[in-house]
Amino acid sequence: TQRLTILGLESSCDDTAAAVVRREMDGSATVMSSIVFGQTDLHSAYGGVVPEIAARAHAEKLDHCVRDALDAAEVTLADLDAVAVTAGPGLIGGVISGVMCAKGIAAATGLPLVGVNHLAGHALTPRLTDGVTYPYLMLLVSGGHCQYLIVRGPEDFTRLGGTIDDAPGEAFDKTARLLGLPQPGGPSVQAEAENGDPRRYRFPRPLLDRPDCNLSFSGLKTALMRMRDQIVAEKGGLTRQDRADLCSGFQAAVADVLSEKTRRALRIYMAENPACPTVAVAGGVAANTAIRAALETICAEAGAEFTAPPLALCTDNAAMIAYAGIERFEIGARDGMDLSARPRWPL
Ligand code: KG4
Ligand code: ZN
Repeated sequence: TQRLTILGLESSCDDTAAAVVRREMDGSATVMSSIVFGQTDLHSAYGGVVPEIAARAHAEKLDHCVRDALDAAEVTLADLDAVAVTAGPGLIGGVISGVMCAKGIAAATGLPLVGVNHLAGHALTPRLTDGVTYPYLMLLVSGGHCQYLIVRGPEDFTRLGGTIDDAPGEAFDKTARLLGLPQPGGPSVQAEAENGDPRRYRFPRPLLDRPDCNLSFSGLKTALMRMRDQIVAEKGGLTRQDRADLCSGFQAAVADVLSEKTRRALRIYMAENPACPTVAVAGGVAANTAIRAALETICAEAGAEFTAPPLALCTDNAAMIAYAGIERFEIGARDGMDLSARPRWPL
């Protein structure tokens, strides 16, 4: 392998990001810079990401992001081997902004262009951060995604299952909204849950009666709404303790469902790969300490190694796109000026 330095761009949701990643001849990779401009403030008044606002903000911020990423890495465009960009899946306006920016750079410099699947970016991150070797089992749990993948190569993924409705992060965010807690919901629900009793309110454990690796989280929100309305009808409002107990019960249900489905996914994966099994988790929900601890336990029981990239590389970023770009570039992948932005793009 040759030494490769690649610029990555990411703009598929509500973070505008650019990064420079270098891979040495010995295979080790370094994040030389990783710039992320979040848009949370722009969307906070609306209770969710507004696609039009997101696309406009990406278009405005991308150039600055690229300049900052190059400056922070102390490189120029002339030091790069290629430009990698998220070409989907995601909010189409944002993806188009990123693809147009990458095409502009490629056209102006003659650098090769490499389109990257956002999910592949997340899925390959454990190789960037921990040098994990193929094949490994990946659990992607974020605000927009939830799936189990056996990762065998940069373009070789087997999906074992995933959510049939909401992503777990989305369920945390909706829970927070229903209980009047601040967004993003994950951290605030987790903080409340720490003072709660997970057994006071019994939440369902959806799809555990099915043998597959599919999950469902939308029923938890419905259950929560019913419990909240009943408490309000009986007592006129929620006490601090009620809220903590609801959060705790909700979080325990999510952790239980993820644990059981992870156990099943591990069984499938380990049947094929009994030697040195590795489970990696990524996505914003991987920050949840209760969920992480539950997954660590499952892996320890099965004799599998557990790994999670540092949080900044678990959530949306461009270093993962640059790195996935490096792996695709190495196997000869190149895209032309006809690279299109795809709102949907399953792995
Ligand atoms: O990966 P991410 O930054 O963005 C994408 O969805 O792509 O994930 C954000 C999600 C949000 O839904 C947020 O509420 C959730 O991750 N999250 C958490 C925690 N921290 C962030 N969920 C549960 N517990 C947390 N500590
Ligand atoms: Zn993501």
